[in-house]
Amino acid sequence: MDETREWYRAFGLTEHAPGALATRDGGVQLRLEDAPYRGIRRIGLGVDDPDDLARLAAALKAADEGMEIEHGETLRFRDPVDRLPYEISVAPRYDAASVDVPAVNRPSAVERRDVPADAVLRGSPVQPSNLTHFVRGTRDPVESIRFHTEVLGFELSDALGDFGGFMRCSDVHHNMAVQKAPAAFLHHISFECDDVDEVGRGAAHMLELDGDSHVWGLGRHAIGSNYFWYLRDPSGNFAEYSSDIDRISSQDGYHPKDWNDGESLSSWGPPVPISFLAPPDIEEVFAAMAEG
Ligand SMILES: [Fe+2]
Repeated sequence: MDETREWYRAFGLTEHAPGALATRDGGVQLRLEDAPYRGIRRIGLGVDDPDDLARLAAALKAADEGMEIEHGETLRFRDPVDRLPYEISVAPRYDAASVDVPAVNRPSAVERRDVPADAVLRGSPVQPSNLTHFVRGTRDPVESIRFHTEVLGFELSDALGDFGGFMRCSDVHHNMAVQKAPAAFLHHISFECDDVDEVGRGAAHMLELDGDSHVWGLGRHAIGSNYFWYLRDPSGNFAEYSSDIDRISSQDGYHPKDWNDGESLSSWGPPVPISFLAPPDIEEVFAAMAEG
């Protein structure tokens, strides 16, 4: 626990209370708890007002009469596919801090003369802006996507056939992605940085502390377009620095694509390591989850 807390502080999160880790603009977005094996303990989502909460409670009841729902200031239930605890509460929308857009030189458009690139002058530690998304396993991707889109109101951004899908509850291409697995393990959490230099600076700093934490990067995903660099935290979860992820304002005029071709993991980057697809401890994690 202590090692993992320290690791996320070095990653650029601010610890407000033991295990409660905040991004620069999103407040506390990651809560670490001591547990016998790594995984997701709870998923927290925010809505604008109590009416939203009441509408969601009604939608959950309409979808499944027998679903156990606790509806106070927080709406608590377990998702019907994987039995993961969800907590939905009224929360402010996060407001990204405005940052200067660095001047970039292209052969055809020189924006910066007589001074070095802004990125090489940055000395302050990287602070990710927000928790942009997480990816988790599900026993049944089709049913999980149906539940999140038809009942909870997520939008489907892109699909991976029957294997999984990328969904959003904001304009970010994916806030949650699900992929087929024997259990709802945590594949990774991703933190959005201001630009690709922050992705590189953050990862370089983490690799200076522990070269073995490298998983995959630097690259650019095809689905969602974001730059990525994945690292392994001391508990075995993957944490991603990302930037420049696609934004989708509405489903009108946007057509989810089915990327079920196996070539879609990255647009460019190093070859995908086996450890990204099958984390070294995954069998152990599945066995522990099966035991409960
Ligand atoms: Fe990601």
